[in-house]
Amino acid sequence: MQAIVMTGTGGPEVLVPRETPAPQPAPGEVLIRAEAIPVLYPETRLRSGDFPMASPLPVVFGFQAAGEVIGVGAGVGREHLGRRVVADTAGTGSYAESVCARVESTTPIPAHVSAADAAAVMMSGSVALALLETAALTGSETVLVEAGATGVGSYLVQLAREFGAARVIATAGGPEKTRRAKELGADHVIDHRSPQWTEEPNTRPDGAIDIVFDSLGGASATALLDAMTPGTGRMLSYGWLSGEPARVSAADLIPRGLTLTGCSGPAFHARVGRARTAILERVPALAPPVETILPLDRAAEAHRLVESRVPLGRIILRPDHAQP
Ligand SMILES: NC(=O)c1ccc[n+]([C@@H]2O[C@H](COP(=O)([O-])OP(=O)(O)OC[C@H]3O[C@@H](n4cnc5c(N)ncnc54)[C@H](OP(=O)(O)O)[C@@H]3O)[C@@H](O)[C@H]2O)c1
Repeated sequence: MQAIVMTGTGGPEVLVPRETPAPQPAPGEVLIRAEAIPVLYPETRLRSGDFPMASPLPVVFGFQAAGEVIGVGAGVGREHLGRRVVADTAGTGSYAESVCARVESTTPIPAHVSAADAAAVMMSGSVALALLETAALTGSETVLVEAGATGVGSYLVQLAREFGAARVIATAGGPEKTRRAKELGADHVIDHRSPQWTEEPNTRPDGAIDIVFDSLGGASATALLDAMTPGTGRMLSYGWLSGEPARVSAADLIPRGLTLTGCSGPAFHARVGRARTAILERVPALAPPVETILPLDRAAEAHRLVESRVPLGRIILRPDHAQP
């Protein structure tokens, strides 16, 4: 079958198209004929070696795929055959024509949603729903969404009001992404490429920030603490795009009466898992999630595009057998 093999850690060129044996579903797994494979930001970090790769190399790359169930392993009912699903692999194996995944990692795709849209929205949208649940907004609070034009941030901006935000401030890099975050529903957007951007929330006349959805981490997280509502402000930390986790200590939080919640690990990911069905049902009401669809053998180019920070939506890979 056609697959993309990760041959080493490094630049996008380590992702190489190869013919590999088709996988067979193990007990508890389904076999999926992939139609749409999302290229995810964390995958670029894994490929570059910034995040540890659990499997020995070379290995078929990739986390998620959408398509039709065409086979079942022992212990999986035949009623799954023919279902359209989005599935999580166990960290490898999704950049391929045929993909195996645990049956419990599959989410049925509603009839009105395309495989490409389902693949595009799944990770970022379900993480955003889990973050919004965790935030427990009261209905009158102001939220700050970092990197609010793309990925998880773009869904936080779109859904925050429904979950009880009164005002949505976003950050984004440059004029095009600033415009995008506004189109998605932000009341105000700060350009986080400006070195002094963390000072802007302090100067806003419309009050303090109650919730920060922190994906940048690093020093900007510390700098935002004085713009947060003393006593009730919450920072939800779920990424470190800056290259280091939020530089926030108990000594920073205690005198301000603020809370920092780490949003990763098994309990948070169980919440993400429970949000999967709900996010697919919302697809028609969300901004179109696909930036472009490329043939599977152009996976390296797709990674270059993601790393350029230019795309506003998800890059999708499509195996030859699924080309229209
Ligand atoms: N905890 C979890 O379960 C979980 C799940 C998924 C993702 N994450 C994390 O959440 C963060 C966002 O992921 P995503 O998939 O939503 O990403 P994304 O929005 O699709 O892409 C990253 C965006 O971040 C902005 N950015 C700001 N500083 C950056 C930098 N130094 N390098 C690269 N991009 C930078 C870029 O926008 P500008 O051009 O506007 O700056 C870019 O569009 C990542 O740290 C990821 O690892 C966590």
